[in-house]
Amino acid sequence: MLSEQSRPYIDASVPVLREHGLAITQVFYKNLFASHPQLHNIFNAGNQANGSQQQSLASAVFAYAANIDNQAALAPVISRIVHKHVSLGVTAAHYPIVGEHLLAAIKQVLGDAATPALLDAWAEAYGLLAQALIAEENRLYADAGVQAGDLFDMRVTAIEIESEQVTSFSLVPVAGGAAPSFRPGQYVSVAVHLPDGLRQLRQYSLSDAPDHQHLRISVKREVAGAETPAGMVSNWLHDNLKVGSIVPVSQPFGDFVPDTDGDGAIVLLSAGVGITPMISALNRIARVAPQRRVIFAHAARNAQHHPHRADIAKAVAHMPNLHSVTFYEEAKQDNEASLAGRMQMEKLPQWDLANTKVYMCGPLPFMQAQWAELVERGVPVHRLHREVFGPDMLDHLI
Ligand SMILES: Cc1cc2nc3c(=O)[nH]c(=O)nc-3n(C[C@H](O)[C@H](O)[C@H](O)COP(=O)(O)OP(=O)(O)OC[C@H]3O[C@@H](n4cnc5c(N)ncnc54)[C@H](O)[C@@H]3O)c2cc1C
Ligand code: HEM
Repeated sequence: MLSEQSRPYIDASVPVLREHGLAITQVFYKNLFASHPQLHNIFNAGNQANGSQQQSLASAVFAYAANIDNQAALAPVISRIVHKHVSLGVTAAHYPIVGEHLLAAIKQVLGDAATPALLDAWAEAYGLLAQALIAEENRLYADAGVQAGDLFDMRVTAIEIESEQVTSFSLVPVAGGAAPSFRPGQYVSVAVHLPDGLRQLRQYSLSDAPDHQHLRISVKREVAGAETPAGMVSNWLHDNLKVGSIVPVSQPFGDFVPDTDGDGAIVLLSAGVGITPMISALNRIARVAPQRRVIFAHAARNAQHHPHRADIAKAVAHMPNLHSVTFYEEAKQDNEASLAGRMQMEKLPQWDLANTKVYMCGPLPFMQAQWAELVERGVPVHRLHREVFGPDMLDHLI
């Protein structure tokens, strides 16, 4: 609980942070990396460069200040952060370092407005948030039976080209024994040592059902855009991994876990490479409840950019109550196999809106559009779950 003394300072900070949050986190990262260069090895250089990580930490700080009395709103945010942190090996010892630099950055950006009383209030608030995160992270490490930062060598046993830009890599433990267990929807962090010496970690959702024998990830090659460079790790994996290569990965983590083993209908919506956790869920349901009603809708640019079609065809042949609907944005007209245009809810089979769980994964604009339409149609928010393939912006809390 935040003390009575600190509360007014935190409450008053919300508009100030809204205005200066981004500047604060930019100063924070600059100083953090200057004094602890080894932290470059756990932070995502791509997200640093494109600004999304700065925005995300700023969002977390705002979200915390704006919802200090609203644990129900903060709980899912905290859950997402702790899973991400443990997949990266964040430890309790990192928190004082981050806290010190965050407070110093608030002081630097706010100048005279950052009075000692305001800084004390934020030191207290940061300490409380850190305590909550550390406790959850320690619990997750203990449950997984690992120490913070542990990675496990996995050998590539098969490589499958799924579409023009997506390739699947099947992995088995080099040490022998069972592959880690996981729940569909979860991801691993994959470590890569880039030619410039930087170690980078990226998360990849597991794209096949758990079977204790192998893990599969499916990686989209992030090509260069007109003004953006090619993705570092995805291209490295495409260009360097061969059958027999060894790649270090974390234990599986992640709190986006479609209810594959429950009853009743389930709706899985995806776009682009956001299909990967949905394929894991679909393959799991095909194994444990092939009679279950599943609405599986996917949006792709065109057939060349539609990965995992073999998995879907197999599931369709095996699951009498699976409705698989495909949208091709570039198609001119509907045909037997696909519908033209972006995903449209009215073109999906109907389902019991109030009682059916809906899971979605894809680019943020895709999810914002589906989320808004589903809520408008009457789907209760607690039935909606989403996964974001990058730092979440938390706009809904600000
Ligand atoms: C939970 C989770 C699950 C995921 N699952 C999958 C999955 O199943 N499959 C998959 O393919 N991906 C998945 N991802 C995404 C994956 O982790 C990586 O983010 C992705 O592969 C890109 O990494 P990269 O190193 O290739 O690109 P990065 O080098 O990190 O670049 C990321 C983006 O930033 C841009 N960028 C880099 N530098 C700059 C700059 N200076 N200015 C402007 N823009 C810049 C790049 O052009 C690129 O678009 C997942 C992410 C998360 C968080
Ligand atoms: C109270 C303190 C902290 C808060 C509120 C916080 C918040 C966040 C948030 C919101 C994200 C993005 C999660 C997502 O949506 O993917 C994140 C990711 C991350 N955090 Fe923290 N964090 C804290 C402390 C730390 C510490 C102590 C470290 C260790 C040095 C750390 C390292 C990271 C890393 C490496 C990422 C992933 C970066 C990326 O993928 O770009 N964080 N954190």
